[in-house]
Amino acid sequence: MLRAARVVALVAVLVALAIAGSVRRSAEVREFDGAYPEHVAESGVLRAFTVRAAPAEVRLLDGRPLQVWAYDGRVPGPELHVRLGDRVRVTFTNDLPQPTTIHWHGVRVPNAMDGVPGVTQPPIEPGETFVYEFTPKDAGTFWFHPHLRSSEQIERGLFGVLVVEDVAPPPWSRDVVWVLDDWLLTQTGEIFPEFNTRHDLAHDGRWGNVVTVNGRVGEQLTVHPGERLRLRLLNVANGRVFAPDVSALDATVIAVDGNYAARPLPPAGFELAPGNRLDLDVTIPPSARGRRLAIVDRFTQQPIPLGEIVVADETPVETPRFPSPAAAHVPAWRDGLGTPVAAEFRLNARAGGPFGIEWTINDAAFRHDHDAHAPMPIAARLPVGEWSHLRFTNESYRLHPMHIHGLFFKVLARNGEPVDEPYFRDTVLLHAHDVVDVGAVPLDVGTWMLHCHILEHAESGMMTLVDVR
Ligand code: C2O
Ligand code: CU
Repeated sequence: MLRAARVVALVAVLVALAIAGSVRRSAEVREFDGAYPEHVAESGVLRAFTVRAAPAEVRLLDGRPLQVWAYDGRVPGPELHVRLGDRVRVTFTNDLPQPTTIHWHGVRVPNAMDGVPGVTQPPIEPGETFVYEFTPKDAGTFWFHPHLRSSEQIERGLFGVLVVEDVAPPPWSRDVVWVLDDWLLTQTGEIFPEFNTRHDLAHDGRWGNVVTVNGRVGEQLTVHPGERLRLRLLNVANGRVFAPDVSALDATVIAVDGNYAARPLPPAGFELAPGNRLDLDVTIPPSARGRRLAIVDRFTQQPIPLGEIVVADETPVETPRFPSPAAAHVPAWRDGLGTPVAAEFRLNARAGGPFGIEWTINDAAFRHDHDAHAPMPIAARLPVGEWSHLRFTNESYRLHPMHIHGLFFKVLARNGEPVDEPYFRDTVLLHAHDVVDVGAVPLDVGTWMLHCHILEHAESGMMTLVDVR
């Protein structure tokens, strides 16, 4: 009798716990359901690539030879294309004169494949090989780059593109990546050999004197009238922000930082900070036949020509017709702003550190020579599968494109004003003294980097870790 009563009591407790557990699933988590997935359906296809980093001479810019560091001897490096569900294996060899790693920017990889030296793997020494292997869980535009001395290594030319195609991509006439970058060259046309200068550190990182698209000045893309293209824009510059003016084109933004937006968006007003991607759905109307459509950067006072779409003077082709792809579901999280802030990241600078100036998050500068035996500097612990309201507070006058590995977040407010961005991001730009609130439901367990993507700021300390468990 007593035993039966105990069993009943135990069952009652278990039921109560289960109910409490489901109630604890906040409104934000319920609203997140059906946004981006925890797992991907594997296709069973293995895509194996080899990539080698080494010094190289390339013809860049105006055609003159330039000494760079490159993946597979090219700048930009290889454009890896896979389908959603494919397994990616990259056998990487470091033939640089420095240790390096590869980080897969925006890709939700197992933590051990994230390429953060001293955190997820040891540095890959010169002459060594490391195998990266993962199955991307999201289709879209991603990129890869070193995560060690990146202000030097990326600036010297180490970056490549990873395009994860939809399982059934829409029938675009063509799919094109434009890698936006700038270079700081000396008068004799060499890469300016000093990195992390006091000037770069005190400002918005290293801004170049030559702007390139796919490594060329005045990029031209020749198309047929009537074509419909997917144009993927990616900013790999150390510090420069672009504000691409595509008003000459009939274009909508369909994806930001990889993932599709909930609906096609007008392209005006988008800022492409270091690390960001913007995918455009562009239709070349038959009436554009024989014209040159210029794309211009308007972030700075003086507009900078980026490239041109040259429309052949010929009979138009038939325009592929299909609805612009969109995300099945993006949560609005309208009440998210009212939830308690789980972690705030205050961004500032101070005198000190190896470069004379160091950039800090919550008054701490990240140590790149971190002793492997010392505890990791974890700035926040985020519960996996649960809602986290985070806040970035820029206490400085400089720009900070803040990037988090291993998750996508959504901007909830800028300076207290609610913002309705119908898409997720992995990088958000803060202007002087901005306060930006973001929300996320991290699905991928691991110790992930959170840092400024102005590489000189990151190099001089503006990095930290968040732990998702
Ligand atoms: Cu492109 Cu840690 O970032
Ligand atoms: Cu910064």
